[in-house]
Order: sequence, then structure tokens, then C-alpha cells
Amino acid sequence: MIELQHIWQTYPSPDGKGTLDAVKDVSVTIEDGEIFGVLGRSGAGKSTLVRCINLLNRPTRGKVLVDGQDLLALDDAQLRTVRHKIGMIFQHFNLLSSRTVYGNVALPLELTGMPKDRIRQKVEPLLKLVGLTEHRDKYPSQLSGGQKQRVGIARALANDPKVLLSDEATSALDPETTVSTLALLRRINRELGVTIVMITHQMEVVKQICERIVVMDHGEIIERGAVLDVFRSPKHPTTRSMLSGILCTELPPSVIEKIHTEFAAHPGQCNKALRLTFVGEEATQPVISTCATDYGVNFNILAGQISEIQGKTFGSLTVVASCSPEAYDRVHAFLLANHIQIEELNDAVVA
Ligand SMILES: Nc1ncnc2c1ncn2[C@@H]1O[C@H](COP(=O)(O)OP(=O)(O)OP(=O)(O)O)[C@@H](O)[C@H]1O
Ligand SMILES: [Mg+2]
Repeated sequence: MIELQHIWQTYPSPDGKGTLDAVKDVSVTIEDGEIFGVLGRSGAGKSTLVRCINLLNRPTRGKVLVDGQDLLALDDAQLRTVRHKIGMIFQHFNLLSSRTVYGNVALPLELTGMPKDRIRQKVEPLLKLVGLTEHRDKYPSQLSGGQKQRVGIARALANDPKVLLSDEATSALDPETTVSTLALLRRINRELGVTIVMITHQMEVVKQICERIVVMDHGEIIERGAVLDVFRSPKHPTTRSMLSGILCTELPPSVIEKIHTEFAAHPGQCNKALRLTFVGEEATQPVISTCATDYGVNFNILAGQISEIQGKTFGSLTVVASCSPEAYDRVHAFLLANHIQIEELNDAVVA
């Protein structure tokens, strides 16, 4: 288990006159075996925070506990031993261009003084795991981005780490290569039991592999929880805006215009602009049509998105409901009973 307790990181400010708190009193616990996401925009403090886990950054204040061991209390030799158990991969791969694929993966083992034949016994299965056996004698310049990242992953696994820190490891890759790289990381998590901490600004990454996340903004955690819960009801404006591609959290002007048109078309009725979110196999189509047939509500779907999060269907629909106030109350209860989350948007539309 990794425990970051009340972490502060203070840097000199860029103008050299004062200080900048890049991380402000952040506490996070990461359980063994999970894939944990640290999400946020550029400059939010993600790398600064996560680099405290292997003390690449020494926090200005706070405690770093890995399996109960207080890393800040260790001497250099003890810290080196702990660091062997924490691998790291990077956005720009950080490979040595003068070494082959094999040589890059072997490097951390050479540094421990391991004999050559033992190194071979370790490196060959790793190259197989990441699918690079045929490319073992190539140099980084002869590889694609995805292949380079797989070298980075194999190298990070050389010392049999318990934890893998991934700092924007897929940000320089195209969408397809991102998907296959994430699939490899998930396999490593499942098959080798490695805990993975993913730093990312990409919702696609979170959607595909993270189980729990924290969202950072200006050095603070503004949201935390299971991915599905955060996606279902993001509370902070920054989270909502980061999710807008997936959730329609921000209404485009064209949809606002359609809502006004719908409202105008049903004068004297209770008109509600709603965002309905649902997870899993709840079939919305029958639910929506039941609203019309059994409750006499006119439902107009204006925008919608369906995506998949950790194998579960996740949907978001923007609709206008027009009916009597009594019918609206009944339909509201009916939707909730069908596990559909309802957010009323009238204020946002009028504002
Ligand atoms: N070594 C440093 N010295 C001074 N300021 C720093 C240092 N490292 C980071 N910062 C500042 O701390 C803040 C947080 O930076 P950090 O790199 O942790 O953000 P991030 O969320 O990882 O961003 P990105 O997505 O761009 O990588 C930024 O304002 C950055 O300029
Ligand atoms: Mg960063």
C-alpha cells in the first residue's frame, strides 16, 4: 500500500521572488494491485505528487509510506532497495539511443551487478511479454513510438517491481497504439499483480483502465472516487469540463437553442431540460418510451453519448421533458427507480 500523507511541495516561483506551492496538503492512499489514476490539466501538480512515491521529488512537507515504510526516514542504500520495487515509464520513453532494445531492458539489471546469464534469463521473457523478441537487436531510432514504450515498460519491469508509475506514458502515442499499450499495462497488472499509478490528462486512459482516480487542479485534489462514480456525477467545474467530451457536461450553443425551441413549443407546461445518465445494461429506450406511453410525458432527445467504462455501458442523454407538474414528479420517481440519474439543466439554460 502506498500512503501519501499531507504532501506539500514548494518551489521557487518562476519570477524568482517568491514561492509556488505545486502540491498543497494532498493525501492519497493507493491499494495493492489497483490501477489508480491521477488526472488533471497541465501544471496541476500530478508529476510532482506521483514522483514523491519513489522520492524523485522529496516533498517539502508530508509523509510517504510504502508498505508502512517511511521513505523519508531511509538512508541512501535503503532508498535504492525500495526504488528497485518501483518502476517508472515516461511520455518520451527515456531510452538510451546507444543501446539496443535488449541493452536498454538489461541496463537496470547490469547496474545491480547481476551476472550476464541471469540477466538473459530475465530479459528474454520480458521481451516476449511486451512482444519485442524479434526486435531485440534494434536501436530505439529503428522503432515506432509504441515499440519504444514497450521497451520502456519491459525495462521498468526488469527488477520485478511491485509498483509501476506511468507519467503520461501514452500521451505521445496515436489512439490505436494507446489502446494496445493500455491493454498491455492492464495485463501486467492482472498477471503480475503490479500496482499501477497512471498520471494522465486523457479521459480515454482513465476510461479504459483506471479503477479509482483523483483529479488535481492547482496542486489540490478537487475530486476523488471510483471512476464510474466520478463520471456519473462530477462535482468540480474542472472535472466537468475535462469530461465534457464524454458526458456532454457542457451544453453546446446549438443544444441550448434546441432546448429553447422545445420550451417555446410547449407553453403552459412544465418544461424541463434534463441530463440523464445511466450505467450498465438498463435499457433506456423502453424506459423513455414508457415515460411517454404510461406517464404522458413528451420526451425529446437533443444530444446523447454512449461509451464504455471498464466494460460497462455508460450513457448520457440530454432531453427536454414537457408535461404537467404532477406527471413530471411521477416520471422523476420512475426514472430514479430505474437507476437513471437526473440532473436538471433549466438554470444553466436560462443563465
Ligand atoms: N523543479 C521544479 N522547479 C520549479 N517549479 C516546478 C518544478 N517542477 C514543477 N514545477 C511547477 O510546479 C507546478 C506543477 O508541475 P507538475 O509538473 O507537477 O504538473 P503536471 O500536472 O505534471 O503537469 P503536466 O501535465 O504538464 O506534466 C507547475 O507550475 C510547474 O511549473
Ligand atoms: Mg507532468
